[in-house]
Amino acid sequence: MNRKYLIAGNWKMNKTPDEAAALIEEIKPLVKDATCSVVVGVPFVDLPAALTATKGTAIGVAAQNCYWEKSGAFTGEVSADMLRAMGVQYVILGHSERRTYFGDTDHTVQKRVRGALDAGLTVILCVGETLEQREEGITTEVVAMQTKIALGGVSAEEMSRVVIAYEPVWAIGTGRTATAQQANEVCAHIRDVLSGLYGAETADQALIQYGGSMNAGNAAELLAQPDVDGGLIGGASLKAADFATIVAAAK
Ligand code: 13P
Repeated sequence: MNRKYLIAGNWKMNKTPDEAAALIEEIKPLVKDATCSVVVGVPFVDLPAALTATKGTAIGVAAQNCYWEKSGAFTGEVSADMLRAMGVQYVILGHSERRTYFGDTDHTVQKRVRGALDAGLTVILCVGETLEQREEGITTEVVAMQTKIALGGVSAEEMSRVVIAYEPVWAIGTGRTATAQQANEVCAHIRDVLSGLYGAETADQALIQYGGSMNAGNAAELLAQPDVDGGLIGGASLKAADFATIVAAAK
Protein backbone atom coordinates (compact mmCIF):
# COMPACT_ATOMS: atom_id res chain seq x y z
CA MET A 1 0.00 0.00 0.00
CA ASN A 2 1.54 3.24 -1.12
CA ARG A 3 -1.23 5.77 -1.45
CA LYS A 4 -0.69 9.50 -1.37
CA TYR A 5 -3.38 11.42 0.51
CA LEU A 6 -5.54 13.85 -1.43
CA ILE A 7 -7.11 16.78 0.35
CA ALA A 8 -9.60 18.62 -1.86
CA GLY A 9 -11.69 21.65 -1.05
CA ASN A 10 -15.17 21.77 -2.53
CA TRP A 11 -16.01 25.45 -2.44
CA LYS A 12 -19.52 24.79 -3.79
CA MET A 13 -21.26 28.02 -4.92
CA ASN A 14 -19.00 30.35 -2.95
CA LYS A 15 -16.47 33.05 -3.90
CA THR A 16 -16.30 35.44 -6.83
CA PRO A 17 -13.19 35.25 -9.04
CA ASP A 18 -11.44 37.98 -7.03
CA GLU A 19 -12.36 36.30 -3.77
CA ALA A 20 -11.17 32.94 -5.10
CA ALA A 21 -7.79 34.38 -6.07
CA ALA A 22 -7.48 36.00 -2.64
CA LEU A 23 -8.31 32.78 -0.79
CA ILE A 24 -5.81 30.81 -2.86
CA GLU A 25 -3.14 33.42 -2.10
CA GLU A 26 -3.90 32.89 1.58
CA ILE A 27 -3.78 29.10 1.26
CA LYS A 28 -0.57 28.93 -0.82
CA PRO A 29 2.06 29.67 1.83
CA LEU A 30 0.20 27.52 4.38
CA VAL A 31 0.32 24.36 2.24
CA LYS A 32 3.63 24.79 0.45
CA ASP A 33 5.25 21.99 2.45
CA ALA A 34 2.32 19.60 2.15
CA THR A 35 3.20 15.96 1.73
CA CYS A 36 -0.27 15.19 0.34
CA SER A 37 -1.90 16.29 -2.92
CA VAL A 38 -3.96 19.47 -2.54
CA VAL A 39 -6.83 20.50 -4.80
CA VAL A 40 -9.31 23.38 -4.77
CA GLY A 41 -12.71 22.77 -6.39
CA VAL A 42 -14.13 26.11 -7.46
CA PRO A 43 -17.19 27.39 -9.36
CA PHE A 44 -16.80 27.45 -13.17
CA VAL A 45 -16.42 31.22 -13.33
CA ASP A 46 -13.54 31.08 -10.83
CA LEU A 47 -11.51 28.54 -12.82
CA PRO A 48 -9.36 31.07 -14.75
CA ALA A 49 -8.54 32.96 -11.55
CA ALA A 50 -7.79 29.72 -9.70
CA LEU A 51 -5.55 28.42 -12.50
CA THR A 52 -3.62 31.69 -12.53
CA ALA A 53 -3.29 31.83 -8.75
CA THR A 54 -2.08 28.23 -8.47
CA LYS A 55 0.37 28.43 -11.37
CA GLY A 56 3.82 27.22 -10.32
CA THR A 57 2.45 25.58 -7.17
CA ALA A 58 1.52 21.98 -6.47
CA ILE A 59 -2.13 22.93 -5.89
CA GLY A 60 -4.50 21.35 -8.41
CA VAL A 61 -7.74 22.89 -9.61
CA ALA A 62 -11.07 21.08 -9.89
CA ALA A 63 -14.38 21.97 -11.50
CA GLN A 64 -17.52 20.84 -9.68
CA ASN A 65 -19.34 19.22 -12.59
CA CYS A 66 -19.14 18.73 -16.35
CA TYR A 67 -21.33 17.57 -19.20
CA TRP A 68 -20.52 14.43 -21.19
CA GLU A 69 -20.95 15.71 -24.75
CA LYS A 70 -17.93 17.44 -26.26
CA SER A 71 -19.87 20.42 -27.68
CA GLY A 72 -23.23 21.28 -29.18
CA ALA A 73 -26.67 22.64 -28.38
CA PHE A 74 -26.62 22.17 -24.60
CA THR A 75 -27.42 25.59 -23.20
CA GLY A 76 -25.82 26.27 -19.88
CA GLU A 77 -23.53 23.25 -19.87
CA VAL A 78 -19.73 23.01 -19.78
CA SER A 79 -17.94 20.05 -21.36
CA ALA A 80 -15.06 18.06 -19.94
CA ASP A 81 -13.05 18.96 -23.06
CA MET A 82 -13.56 22.66 -22.38
CA LEU A 83 -12.27 22.21 -18.84
CA ARG A 84 -9.26 20.26 -20.02
CA ALA A 85 -8.52 22.82 -22.73
CA MET A 86 -8.23 25.57 -20.13
CA GLY A 87 -5.86 23.53 -17.97
CA VAL A 88 -8.21 22.13 -15.35
CA GLN A 89 -6.98 18.76 -14.03
CA TYR A 90 -9.83 17.52 -11.81
CA VAL A 91 -13.60 17.40 -11.80
CA ILE A 92 -15.91 16.55 -8.90
CA LEU A 93 -18.80 14.40 -10.16
CA GLY A 94 -21.92 12.94 -8.60
CA HIS A 95 -21.93 15.20 -5.56
CA SER A 96 -25.07 14.63 -3.49
CA GLU A 97 -26.10 18.26 -4.03
CA ARG A 98 -26.05 17.61 -7.79
CA ARG A 99 -28.07 14.44 -7.27
CA THR A 100 -30.57 16.10 -4.91
CA TYR A 101 -31.10 19.52 -6.52
CA PHE A 102 -30.12 19.09 -10.16
CA GLY A 103 -31.37 15.67 -11.13
CA ASP A 104 -28.08 13.78 -11.45
CA THR A 105 -28.64 10.03 -11.39
CA ASP A 106 -26.24 7.11 -11.22
CA HIS A 107 -26.55 6.82 -14.99
CA THR A 108 -25.91 10.48 -15.79
CA VAL A 109 -23.00 10.37 -13.37
CA GLN A 110 -21.66 7.39 -15.33
CA LYS A 111 -21.85 9.42 -18.55
CA ARG A 112 -20.10 12.38 -16.93
CA VAL A 113 -17.34 10.09 -15.62
CA ARG A 114 -16.87 8.69 -19.14
CA GLY A 115 -16.72 12.16 -20.68
CA ALA A 116 -14.28 13.41 -18.05
CA LEU A 117 -11.92 10.45 -18.40
CA ASP A 118 -12.02 10.68 -22.19
CA ALA A 119 -11.04 14.34 -21.91
CA GLY A 120 -8.05 13.45 -19.73
CA LEU A 121 -9.40 14.75 -16.42
CA THR A 122 -9.08 13.08 -13.04
CA VAL A 123 -12.49 12.42 -11.51
CA ILE A 124 -13.45 12.83 -7.86
CA LEU A 125 -16.54 10.63 -7.79
CA CYS A 126 -18.89 11.21 -4.85
CA VAL A 127 -21.03 8.47 -3.38
CA GLY A 128 -22.90 8.23 -0.10
CA GLU A 129 -26.09 7.18 1.61
CA THR A 130 -28.89 9.31 3.03
CA LEU A 131 -29.82 9.15 6.71
CA GLU A 132 -32.90 7.12 5.84
CA GLN A 133 -30.81 4.60 3.93
CA ARG A 134 -28.34 4.30 6.81
CA GLU A 135 -31.19 3.72 9.25
CA GLU A 136 -32.62 1.05 6.94
CA GLY A 137 -29.26 -0.73 7.09
CA ILE A 138 -28.60 -0.47 3.34
CA THR A 139 -25.54 1.82 3.37
CA THR A 140 -23.17 -0.71 1.85
CA GLU A 141 -25.66 -1.70 -0.85
CA VAL A 142 -26.37 1.92 -1.81
CA VAL A 143 -22.72 2.89 -1.93
CA ALA A 144 -21.79 -0.26 -3.88
CA MET A 145 -24.53 0.41 -6.42
CA GLN A 146 -23.55 4.06 -6.89
CA THR A 147 -19.91 3.06 -7.29
CA LYS A 148 -20.56 0.21 -9.72
CA ILE A 149 -22.92 2.16 -11.96
CA ALA A 150 -20.74 5.28 -12.06
CA LEU A 151 -17.72 3.16 -12.99
CA GLY A 152 -19.54 1.20 -15.70
CA GLY A 153 -17.15 1.01 -18.65
CA VAL A 154 -14.17 2.42 -16.73
CA SER A 155 -11.04 0.26 -17.16
CA ALA A 156 -8.59 -0.76 -14.44
CA GLU A 157 -6.00 1.44 -16.11
CA GLU A 158 -8.32 4.45 -16.00
CA MET A 159 -8.83 3.93 -12.27
CA SER A 160 -5.54 5.75 -11.70
CA ARG A 161 -7.54 8.86 -12.66
CA VAL A 162 -10.53 8.15 -10.43
CA VAL A 163 -10.74 9.15 -6.78
CA ILE A 164 -13.80 8.08 -4.82
CA ALA A 165 -15.18 10.39 -2.18
CA TYR A 166 -17.40 8.71 0.38
CA GLU A 167 -19.75 11.44 1.54
CA PRO A 168 -22.66 10.34 3.73
CA VAL A 169 -25.43 12.78 2.84
CA TRP A 170 -26.41 13.18 6.49
CA ALA A 171 -22.93 14.45 7.32
CA ILE A 172 -22.72 17.12 4.62
CA GLY A 173 -22.99 20.65 5.95
CA THR A 174 -24.68 19.40 9.10
CA GLY A 175 -21.77 19.45 11.52
CA ARG A 176 -22.56 15.79 12.11
CA THR A 177 -19.46 13.88 11.06
CA ALA A 178 -19.33 10.14 10.58
CA THR A 179 -17.25 8.58 13.32
CA ALA A 180 -13.79 7.56 12.22
CA GLN A 181 -14.93 3.95 12.43
CA GLN A 182 -18.05 4.54 10.30
CA ALA A 183 -15.98 6.41 7.71
CA ASN A 184 -13.36 3.68 7.57
CA GLU A 185 -15.94 0.91 7.40
CA VAL A 186 -17.60 2.33 4.28
CA CYS A 187 -14.32 3.35 2.64
CA ALA A 188 -13.07 -0.22 3.17
CA HIS A 189 -16.29 -1.54 1.68
CA ILE A 190 -15.81 0.67 -1.40
CA ARG A 191 -12.29 -0.76 -1.71
CA ASP A 192 -13.80 -4.25 -1.62
CA VAL A 193 -16.20 -3.26 -4.38
CA LEU A 194 -13.24 -2.00 -6.44
CA SER A 195 -11.41 -5.23 -5.75
CA GLY A 196 -14.38 -7.17 -7.12
CA LEU A 197 -14.46 -4.97 -10.23
CA TYR A 198 -10.75 -4.58 -10.93
CA GLY A 199 -8.78 -6.92 -8.70
CA ALA A 200 -6.90 -6.41 -5.47
CA GLU A 201 -3.98 -4.46 -6.88
CA THR A 202 -6.09 -1.72 -8.45
CA ALA A 203 -8.24 -1.54 -5.33
CA ASP A 204 -5.18 -1.25 -3.14
CA GLN A 205 -3.90 1.69 -5.17
CA ALA A 206 -7.24 3.53 -5.38
CA LEU A 207 -7.70 6.74 -3.43
CA ILE A 208 -10.84 6.84 -1.29
CA GLN A 209 -11.64 10.06 0.53
CA TYR A 210 -14.09 10.84 3.29
CA GLY A 211 -16.23 13.98 3.12
CA GLY A 212 -18.93 15.41 5.38
CA SER A 213 -18.25 18.00 8.08
CA MET A 214 -14.54 17.22 8.10
CA ASN A 215 -12.82 20.07 9.88
CA ALA A 216 -9.61 21.17 11.55
CA GLY A 217 -10.65 19.43 14.77
CA ASN A 218 -11.68 16.01 13.50
CA ALA A 219 -9.51 15.57 10.39
CA ALA A 220 -6.55 13.88 12.07
CA GLU A 221 -8.64 11.07 13.51
CA LEU A 222 -10.54 10.48 10.26
CA LEU A 223 -7.37 10.57 8.16
CA ALA A 224 -5.61 8.14 10.50
CA GLN A 225 -8.00 5.39 9.42
CA PRO A 226 -6.34 2.82 7.16
CA ASP A 227 -8.87 3.06 4.32
CA VAL A 228 -9.38 6.84 4.40
CA ASP A 229 -6.94 8.36 1.91
CA GLY A 230 -7.95 11.97 2.15
CA GLY A 231 -10.84 14.34 2.47
CA LEU A 232 -13.31 16.29 0.39
CA ILE A 233 -13.91 19.38 2.45
CA GLY A 234 -16.80 21.82 2.10
CA GLY A 235 -17.23 24.56 4.72
CA ALA A 236 -13.79 24.21 6.30
CA SER A 237 -12.08 24.60 2.92
CA LEU A 238 -13.26 28.21 2.75
CA LYS A 239 -11.08 29.14 5.73
CA ALA A 240 -7.40 29.07 4.79
CA ALA A 241 -6.13 28.21 8.27
CA ASP A 242 -8.62 25.38 8.78
CA PHE A 243 -7.94 23.96 5.33
CA ALA A 244 -4.20 24.10 6.00
CA THR A 245 -4.66 22.29 9.30
CA ILE A 246 -6.48 19.49 7.48
CA VAL A 247 -3.74 19.36 4.84
CA ALA A 248 -1.12 19.13 7.58
CA ALA A 249 -3.06 16.27 9.19
CA ALA A 250 -2.82 14.23 5.98
CA LYS A 251 0.46 12.48 6.52
P1 13P B 1 -19.04 20.04 4.44
O1 13P B 1 -17.57 19.80 4.70
O2 13P B 1 -19.42 21.48 4.45
O3 13P B 1 -19.90 19.17 5.29
O4 13P B 1 -19.28 19.57 2.92
C1 13P B 1 -18.79 18.35 2.52
C2 13P B 1 -18.96 18.24 1.06
O5 13P B 1 -20.06 18.19 0.55
C3 13P B 1 -17.74 18.21 0.25
O6 13P B 1 -18.05 17.86 -1.07
